[in-house]
Amino acid sequence: MQITVVNHPLVQHKLALMREADVSTNKFRLLTEELARLLAYEATRDLELEDVTINGWCGEVQVKKIKGKKLTVVPILRAGLGMLNGVLDLVPSAKISVVGLARDEETLQPVPYFEKFVGDLQDRLALIIDPMLATGGSLVATVDMLKRNGCKDIIAIVMVAAPEGVKLMNEKHPDVKIVSASLDSHLNEQGYIIPGLGDAGDKIFGTI
Ligand code: PRP
Ligand code: URA
Repeated sequence: MQITVVNHPLVQHKLALMREADVSTNKFRLLTEELARLLAYEATRDLELEDVTINGWCGEVQVKKIKGKKLTVVPILRAGLGMLNGVLDLVPSAKISVVGLARDEETLQPVPYFEKFVGDLQDRLALIIDPMLATGGSLVATVDMLKRNGCKDIIAIVMVAAPEGVKLMNEKHPDVKIVSASLDSHLNEQGYIIPGLGDAGDKIFGTI
């Protein structure tokens, strides 16, 4: 199983507030950002460190810094944008790659409409961000794109995952770790996660 569910009390409390039927756009957007910050903390816990010597106040001192090229954060449009600032709070110098995908409401298949990746993807960790992992089609398509462009090290941060999406990711991309605030029950006939959050993109952008 490649999913890590973050059971930290703050994560669970914030997710509970987001599940309220009458949550406002403002509150949902704020909570998305706060949750993304906490999930990014967990997702980055295994980043490799290297020993570096710096000039400290009392002379040379050995410290540890994150090794390698700056990571890239990959929001999946639209809803992933809601998580971006929260993640950047923790990794402010990250590079940003953007993927545009919209789920066809009939077929539930992801329809790509935009991609812009930073350079040197083969040397960077990619942190994909999207609030919802439902059928898994959008996440699989995003990982496909990243791998086609040379990326080898990928972690996905979602707020809510459905077992169907986790299963598809296990089949197609077992090397990609998923960090989530919850593993929910199932998808309904329209492909919405139950209990889920409803349409996360609409709630973040106020297009309900
Ligand atoms: C939502 C969500 C994911 C996708 C998940 O986006 O943000 O990207 O659906 O569904 P899947 O796992 O079945 O592919 P949507 O396509 O609704 O677009 P939006 O972000 O523009 O609202
Ligand atoms: N996209 C959403 O925004 N919510 C779901 O439950 C499934 C896909």
